Amino acid sequence: MLTGKAVLVTGGTGSFGRKFVEVVLEKYPQVKRLVVYSRDELKQFEMSQIYPLGKYPQMRFFVGDVRDKERLYRAMEDIDIVIHSAALKQVPACEYNPFEAIKTNVLGAQNVIENAIDRGVRKVVALSTDKAAAPINLYGATKLCSDKLFITANNFKGKHDIKFSVVRYGNVMNSRGSVIPFFIKKRPGGILPITDPEMTRFSITLNEGVNLVLYALTHMWGGELFVPKIPSYRIVDVARAVAPECRHEIVGIRPGEKLHEEMITETDALNTLEFDDYYVILPATPLWDVARFKEAFGGKHCERGFRYCSGTNTQWLTSDEIRGLIEKHIKEDLHTDQERQREDRRRLSLLQAAGHKAAGLQAVSERDEV
Ligand SMILES: NC(=O)c1ccc[n+]([C@@H]2O[C@H](COP(=O)([O-])OP(=O)(O)OC[C@H]3O[C@@H](n4cnc5c(N)ncnc54)[C@H](OP(=O)(O)O)[C@@H]3O)[C@@H](O)[C@H]2O)c1
Repeated sequence: MLTGKAVLVTGGTGSFGRKFVEVVLEKYPQVKRLVVYSRDELKQFEMSQIYPLGKYPQMRFFVGDVRDKERLYRAMEDIDIVIHSAALKQVPACEYNPFEAIKTNVLGAQNVIENAIDRGVRKVVALSTDKAAAPINLYGATKLCSDKLFITANNFKGKHDIKFSVVRYGNVMNSRGSVIPFFIKKRPGGILPITDPEMTRFSITLNEGVNLVLYALTHMWGGELFVPKIPSYRIVDVARAVAPECRHEIVGIRPGEKLHEEMITETDALNTLEFDDYYVILPATPLWDVARFKEAFGGKHCERGFRYCSGTNTQWLTSDEIRGLIEKHIKEDLHTDQERQREDRRRLSLLQAAGHKAAGLQAVSERDEV
């Protein structure tokens, strides 16, 4: 699907962007060009060390801001596909610097759209977040604007053969600034701050996020907002998974935070089709032919009153499952020193009992805590 295509990813040095590049180079090594577009030269330099030009002749690094329309125009020369992931996404920072968030997340989105049309790009997928559904903070509000800009861009593309779609999902495990790395950092202090014991979130891994974007690229009709069916977790279960030995301190919900996140509101559900692994929110514009879409892709309408909310989800991650995912995807050893020592003692006594004393001592000496 990406073989022979030139792809540009805005925010290519971010958590999503880095995983996207890794997956694309692995799955589609014959991609013609893979352009990373972002502001910070250092992050780009570090990434270019991982992907040296000699070994990855497809890779390009473009320093640029999505707010800078001219620079984006230059970067989009001969590009076939754009993935728009650049964003300001820290809720408190967006609250405190609202117009900065608007400039990047809203005006930047429109710059991507207009340049993509003018540069003959064929497909654009933009990343959205659950915080954009019925937003209560500025970050979510700017992402809702961005979603609407991308979906509506299908109406004013004129004769250009281009499609725009959006992929919306929830908390990405281990992305920059997310709760798991935060808890891991707090763990040595013995206390984890919990906003509210009832709080829930949707959870997705970076790999799943990238695969969903690739799925959207292959199947998009133009105008869909793809929402994956993903599990929820309780924040307290994340805390237990990261540091079962830590005490929890309830610090209260912060301004701009919801107790539960939503990906599809009750009103959105009126225009939503359900598939096996995901939902598609369709544009609520009369120009959009739902009947033709259903004929091509199938899907069934959601029932009246349906909403897709992290608090009423049917799929849940237990504390053990979260721990397994952290160990698999974040490669973090979550065992405490005491647990490690206990395990070492157990292994040693088993080996000694089996008469392998020498081998047992060697196995234990591999751990420097003992
Ligand atoms: N992480 C999550 O939990 C989550 C959940 C749902 C949706 N999303 C969405 O997924 C997307 C990617 O998120 P992420 O976690 O990868 O974020 P991230 O790690 O913070 O990365 C953001 C990227 O955007 C770039 N960027 C920021 N402002 C820019 C600008 N004005 N012009 C060009 N590049 C800019 C950053 O690089 P520079 O700073 O060097 O420019 C960085 O490469 C975002 O759209 C976000 O809303 C994220």
